[in-house]
Amino acid sequence: MIRESLPDLADPELVDCVAEKAARAATLLRNIARDYSPVVFANSLGAEDMVLTDLIWREEINIAIFSLDTGRLPIETYELMHQAEQHYGRKLEIYFPRHEAVEAYSRTHGSHGFYDSVEARKACCQARKVEPLQRTLAGKGAWVTGLRATQSATRGKLKVISHDAANNLIKASPLTDWSEAEVWVYLRANQVPYNRLHDRNYPSIGCAPCTRAVGPGEDVRAGRWWWETPETKECGLHLVDGRLQRTFKQVAEA
Ligand code: ADX
Ligand code: SF4
Repeated sequence: MIRESLPDLADPELVDCVAEKAARAATLLRNIARDYSPVVFANSLGAEDMVLTDLIWREEINIAIFSLDTGRLPIETYELMHQAEQHYGRKLEIYFPRHEAVEAYSRTHGSHGFYDSVEARKACCQARKVEPLQRTLAGKGAWVTGLRATQSATRGKLKVISHDAANNLIKASPLTDWSEAEVWVYLRANQVPYNRLHDRNYPSIGCAPCTRAVGPGEDVRAGRWWWETPETKECGLHLVDGRLQRTFKQVAEA
């Protein structure tokens, strides 16, 4: 969705519906925090994640919020980290890649090796995102993500609660059934800070060299790893049925 076409707050039914969904999401978060402690929320600072940040920090839910700093994030994401910390008076927990892994990657593939092949791209995501995530999740009872089912072909079967076999803990995605419009109604109604790249047609934001703006009518994740085909566009943080990717045929039959 292009930001100019986003819904405004003039539709009271939509605003009420989002408020109800937010209350349900907050209840779910509280229950998960109670049942699976210690619980952490993986915050990419994207629009969905700012909804969850607002719910967790404003309602003081016992869930620690962390971000993976890949070292290649856009400057606007670092600015939002700072802005969010000021806004809520809280600190994000930041996790970095292991420097040995990044150095080995650069020696083998070069600093922009991710453009050369899907394998080289996944190796970079492994070093900069997946290994730090695994390290962060070790010993936790559950993790929370901002995934939505309609974000991409690979996420259609997403469940609100599942067992994350790769990391061996519970995974909760409270916004699974939210639309992009509902996310923006929440952010506007609650005056939540957001990444200003969203105003420049970046609906989905990852690392700077692997993210670009989308054009009218393009899929929300069209700007992520835009040189690849849709079924490979996962970085490995979110395995589907225990696998990194699904084929177009599997997606169509899902
Ligand atoms: S990705 O797998 O393609 O990179 P995406 O950007 O859609 O993921 O984000 C999906 C969810 O993954 C986010 O809602 C968040 O929970 C988690 N996530 C992605 N990137 C990060 C990050 N850098 N730090 C923490 N969590 C992240
Ligand atoms: Fe590397 Fe790009 Fe993956 Fe970031 S998104 S970890 S820069 S390949």
